[in-house]
Amino acid sequence: MNAQAFAPLAQPNARYSRITGTGSHLPPRRLSNDDMTALLAQRGIETSDAWIVERTGIRARHFAADGVNCSDLALPAARAALEAAGRTADDVDLIIVATSTPDMVFPSTACILQDKLGANGCMAFDMQAVCSGFVYALSVADSMIRGGMARCALVIGSEIFSRILDFNDRTTCVLFGDGAGAVVLEASAEPGILATDMHADGRHVGILCVPGTVSGGQVLGDPLLKMDGQSVFKLAVGVLDSAARAVLERAGRTEADLDWLIPHQANIRIMQSTARKLKLPLSKLVVTVDEHGNTSAASIPLALDTAVRSGRVKRGDTVMLEGVGGGFTWGAVLLDF
Ligand code: ACO
Repeated sequence: MNAQAFAPLAQPNARYSRITGTGSHLPPRRLSNDDMTALLAQRGIETSDAWIVERTGIRARHFAADGVNCSDLALPAARAALEAAGRTADDVDLIIVATSTPDMVFPSTACILQDKLGANGCMAFDMQAVCSGFVYALSVADSMIRGGMARCALVIGSEIFSRILDFNDRTTCVLFGDGAGAVVLEASAEPGILATDMHADGRHVGILCVPGTVSGGQVLGDPLLKMDGQSVFKLAVGVLDSAARAVLERAGRTEADLDWLIPHQANIRIMQSTARKLKLPLSKLVVTVDEHGNTSAASIPLALDTAVRSGRVKRGDTVMLEGVGGGFTWGAVLLDF
């Protein structure tokens, strides 16, 4: 947006947070379902465009080149969001990168990105809530802005899931892709974020996980993604509905007030079921899973930026963001854009 959002606030208690810019980035290498079919055929594994489209709605995904890291995808997304907000790196006082595929064990990808952006000195940390990471990060940034700890936050989801896929497991490797999405969230006298609702249930750790770890100079255990797809599917449909209703109630709004639903882009069937439960026409559902696949923490900001830049999501629209993923974690954010 513009610098006016930074006008001094008459009352500190009337402080809200509002998205003032969005950005995203996809690595150039695009693999269609036919490309994936050919890739898996080299390993003697069968899949098809028809199976993938029918079960998931995915038609393509992007994979990062060797040597490209999570912060490299986050950087152009962050720059695009800053430009859209009319901000520079000097304005940023908080960076949160939601990711499960960081550049290294430590320091955080947020610190690495901070240096690449030239925003050194501000607070920077990673958020690990798998595919719910972006809504968790947005909720934390909103609380910190409303609490007076920050005024201009960069909130980013960035992932290179292609690095943790098991290309011998056709039930998972066709589902995921790489990418990054970012928003600038600023202190504002006007809302902004209306309500958030975040949850986790650690009893379900095993249904979606990368169980390996680094210890004693070695990778211990399996460092590739494992998923019980049907359990994830059933849980996701239930929790997305309850989180949606919770934020609407908290904000004193109803389903009829929603202009757009932007759920985590994992599977078109989960997304459409969420929209139907809210009695939303499917025309209000933002879908990018077809072209991006599941980019975990990056999927929601990637979809938001795509919808903003295509002119669908406009200033003043009421938007519901919903995340769900490993942990098991889930959450919703209701906002006036
Ligand atoms: N190509 C062809 N056949 C396949 C493939 C494939 N890529 N994958 C599985 N199959 C076969 C199976 O082997 C099985 O064959 P069988 O009947 O001969 O045993 C058959 O297809 C059906 O397999 P199911 O696993 O029962 O398929 P299902 O309809 O459950 O779809 C899917 C699987 C797409 C993974 C689905 O369960 C799903 O979408 N779950 C939710 C996943 C999700 O949303 N994850 C992300 C959320 S969290 C996060 O983003 C990290």
